[in-house]
Parts: sequence; C-alpha cells; structure tokens
Amino acid sequence: MTRLTIAIAKGRLEQPALELLRRAELCELPEDNDSRRLAIEDEAGSFRFIFVKPMDVPVYVERGVADCGVVGRDVLLEYEPDVLQPLTLDIGRCRFVVAAPVEMPAFGHRIVRVATKFPRVATSYFGARGQPVEIITLSGSVELAPGLGLADCIVDLVETGRTLRDNGLEAVEEIAELSARLIVNRASYQLKVKEVSRVIEALSQAGVAP
Ligand code: PRP
Repeated sequence: MTRLTIAIAKGRLEQPALELLRRAELCELPEDNDSRRLAIEDEAGSFRFIFVKPMDVPVYVERGVADCGVVGRDVLLEYEPDVLQPLTLDIGRCRFVVAAPVEMPAFGHRIVRVATKFPRVATSYFGARGQPVEIITLSGSVELAPGLGLADCIVDLVETGRTLRDNGLEAVEEIAELSARLIVNRASYQLKVKEVSRVIEALSQAGVAP
C-alpha cells in the first residue's frame, strides 16, 4: 500500500486532530507523541504524520510533500491555497471577529487602524463594507495592540473569549464561524485515490461538522 503523508497543524488543533485520527481507526498511532518529534509513522508504515505551523500546512499540501492536511479554516481563508477541501471537521471550532476596547467609540468614516495576523481576511471584510482601514500585520499577541495605541481594533480568532476579556477587549462584529478542515493535494486525490478515499471516509464517520 502507498504511504500517505498527513500534515497536522501544531498548537490548538494538534491534540484534537490526533484524537480524531485515533477515533477514525485508520492506523495505530503511538499513545504519547513525544512533543519534540515533528514526524511520526504509524506502526504499519501506511501513514506518516508531520507537525508544522498552521500556516505551513497548506504549503506542504499544495506542493505535494504532504498528501493531506488538517488545518483551521482561518488559514485557508487567509492564504487561499490551491488544494481540495473535502471535509469540514468537528474540531477547532472558533470565530473570526473584530474586537475593540470596551467603550470604544463608533468607527464612523475615519481610517481605522486594524491589527491582525490575517491581513487578507481583514482587508476583504472592511473593503466589502466600504470602511477605510490601515492594516497593521502582526505575528501574534494582537490583543495588546489597541491598549498600547498601535491600533483601534483587531481582527482575530476567538475560541473561549478569555484572551479578549483578559486584555480589556470585546467582540464587536463577527466575520465568520470556523472549524478545522481536511485538505488534499490535487494530484494525490487522483493518484492515490484508494488511500485518500479511505482517509476521507474514516474521518467523515469519526467527526464531520454537522
Ligand atoms: C488564538 C487567537 C487568540 C486566542 C483566542 O491564538 O489569536 O489570541 O487564540 O483564544 P481564546 O478565545 O480561547 O482566549 P493562538 O492560541 O492560536 O496563538 P497565537 O497567538 O500564537 O497564534
């Protein structure tokens, strides 16, 4: 049987993705993944799992280094990779929101400074509303930006809401609901049809979003 490589987004999706793979009973995974190992194989050698930064999952899959990937829809909306997205998974549920300091005055028509890790999503959201914005791209801890005067608001992910609350921010607009997706390389979908179909089938039984 041809071996499949599956890229998993490290961080918040990693454990839920591994649990989903275990439930899907596709293969025998080691019980405890040593967190420093970035690649593991199942016992039969049918699967290799690689653990990469969320934004790199589509890069590996688009270029065919990985056949499949498990990654949040936030990354797919931001990078728009040329990959297939056959399944929406029931893990990694969160929301894309605009958040601003509690008691923030209305934006009106002035240029609003928006700090975000997702410049394309933010540009397209405010552009569609005709709101002039200056996008300030950061790589993390964006919740700090309004309090320090770097930005008026942020566009970011919210899961429990705790990071917003702890930093004096509140969600003022919802942009999209998100969860993880299975993505597949276009060529792998054709050339490894049997193996890829088995993954899609097993994951869809184990945990597809309703
Ligand atoms: C995300 C997001 C928020 C936080 C929200 O960051 O950017 O900071 O999680 O989660 P909460 O609503 O449950 O508090 P993540 O943990 O993915 O890390 P990062 O900032 O390093 O990307």
